Amino acid sequence: MDEAAIPMWIEDTVLHIGAEATAISGSWMGRKAVLKKREPRAYRHPSLDRKLTRQRLAAEARILSRLQSIDFPSPSLLDVDTDGGWMLLSKIDGVPLYEALQNGDAGPQEIRKFGELIRKLHESDIAHGDLTTHNVLIDNQGNLTLIDFGLARIAPEIEQLGLDLQVLNECLTASHYNFESAVETMVEGYLSADSGKSSAVSHLSAKEVVERFNAIRGRVRYHA
Ligand SMILES: Nc1ncnc2c1ncn2[C@@H]1O[C@H](COP(=O)(O)OP(=O)(O)O)[C@@H](O)[C@H]1O
Ligand SMILES: [Mg+2]
Repeated sequence: MDEAAIPMWIEDTVLHIGAEATAISGSWMGRKAVLKKREPRAYRHPSLDRKLTRQRLAAEARILSRLQSIDFPSPSLLDVDTDGGWMLLSKIDGVPLYEALQNGDAGPQEIRKFGELIRKLHESDIAHGDLTTHNVLIDNQGNLTLIDFGLARIAPEIEQLGLDLQVLNECLTASHYNFESAVETMVEGYLSADSGKSSAVSHLSAKEVVERFNAIRGRVRYHA
């Protein structure tokens, strides 16, 4: 793709080359921004690949706008071109929670806060779809911001909410086993943030979601 085609974008450094997307930091209209572009996948049929790219980007953009409208801590959508396969996001300050946990700059308190944030997301009727400690950034004041909504879903089933907790459970037990009760701490945070309001968009209580998570956990253990 020709980056010169993106209006007012000045590229700086490549942040991350992922399986589906590349993230590059730079500036856009004088503000710090991140360009996320989807690369064509050689193993997929070209027209199918373009269609998938467009659909996923459109979905991610829709979710980001929705999150912005409710002041959920997430990047703002600055520009998007689904045909071009890219979007521009405001640059979030901070490092992935993964890193902060690894080098001791974050601990149980932040894991608990992460649990609370997930509950807030779920009450907004969104499942994240890829909830690892790589997809939450922490700044030096300890503020958490969720990123990477490429696999997120609006109006999820309870199973998808339970799966969010299970994906994080797997991440915490595999990468952050030095924090003994990380999963319990995360679940505590999740339960404590239940607003209990029937006006929450999602009618599923935190307790119901945790029950589903425990069922999924049991299922996984049984088949392992
Ligand atoms: N808005 C942003 N602000 C700061 N860093 C970001 C932003 N978006 C992405 N990143 C960085 O780029 C990495 C990859 O972006 P992400 O959205 O997670 O895509 P992927 O699908 O490749 O995981 C993130 O882990 C993060 O370090
Ligand atoms: Mg990611």
